[in-house]
Amino acid sequence: MRRVFVTRRLSIDPAVALGEGFDVEVHPGDEAPSPEALTAAGRRCDAMVTLLGDAVDEALLRACPRVRVVANHAVGFDNVDVPAATRLGVWVTNTPDVLTESTADLTWALLLSLARRVREGEAMVRRGRFLGWSPTLLLGLELEGRTLGIVGFGRIGRAVARRATGFGMRVLYASRSDVPRAERGHAEPVAFAELLRSSDVVSLHCPLTVETRHLVGAPELAAMRPGALLLNTSRGPVVDEASLVAALASGSLGGAGLDVYEDEPRVHPGLVARDDVVLLPHIGSATHRARRRMAEIALDNVRVALSGERPPNALNDPARPR
Ligand code: NAP
Ligand code: GLV
Repeated sequence: MRRVFVTRRLSIDPAVALGEGFDVEVHPGDEAPSPEALTAAGRRCDAMVTLLGDAVDEALLRACPRVRVVANHAVGFDNVDVPAATRLGVWVTNTPDVLTESTADLTWALLLSLARRVREGEAMVRRGRFLGWSPTLLLGLELEGRTLGIVGFGRIGRAVARRATGFGMRVLYASRSDVPRAERGHAEPVAFAELLRSSDVVSLHCPLTVETRHLVGAPELAAMRPGALLLNTSRGPVVDEASLVAALASGSLGGAGLDVYEDEPRVHPGLVARDDVVLLPHIGSATHRARRRMAEIALDNVRVALSGERPPNALNDPARPR
């Protein structure tokens, strides 16, 4: 019997999905297991299905010598020390592609809410403060003809760009690598500095790495167009939140749409108080279809890795898998 620890309830039943031959333990409740609970469970298991808030570091992997695969139920894997896993012979996998469209949709939900002041309007109606149609009520930004700048032109960045053509926006992107012309659509490559200077809306879609931590800080915010909007559906620490709050307070930035935060689930109090921000609880991939497919993929990676084969979404290549 192979034992699998799942760090939270999933959108499908992992015991049913894995079937016979697997003994599945699911961490109860909606909060992350403490590091101690994660280690204790990991010691008893051959595989772990982790979420993006579960820190999987070298100490944990060393303390859990039975664990042969860490299947991260997310496309981002900044919570896992992949080089340490590789050294220790542990497979690490993620769940790419199946959440691309849902996360791009949510990025547009943030953009439209912010540009057209949807959150403020909704609150006004619910509070009984809508006094009738007015020529000056909640005026916002019209997107047609404006420029959208995408940082991180990967799967989600491109899906966000595709939607922009329907809104008549010009699209710029900044990327470290060359994107073949056939894959660019209408988007134009520019340097990061130019993207900041030229965009009415800047949307972040890069992974969190050593290089991208605080990629957008005070100098970058100051370089953005006056009144520009910032969207972040990537990872919170890509933005220096204290500098973002300062830029919003100074009025240089027009607003921010955030799905992710620097110290999740804590949200900077300077953001919560503002009308010119839209705040969501990290729900980029939260559609029934995406979450079901993410769970299926994570569990499939567990099944394959424990059968001694290379899992389909391997992020590493351990020389001597455990
Ligand atoms: P992806 O296909 O790997 O795209 C990421 C892109 O970022 C790549 O094209 C990469 O290209 C680029 N990149 C990396 N470092 C960069 C840098 N310093 N400057 C500019 N571009 C850089 O990943 P994805 O599937 O689109 O997902 C992107 C991220 O979104 C994930 O890592 C995750 O953190 C986040 N995410 C969030 C949610 C949510 O719920 N809010 C949902 C899904 C994903 P090069 O390496 O060639 O530069
Ligand atoms: C969500 O944030 C993911 O990386 O899948």
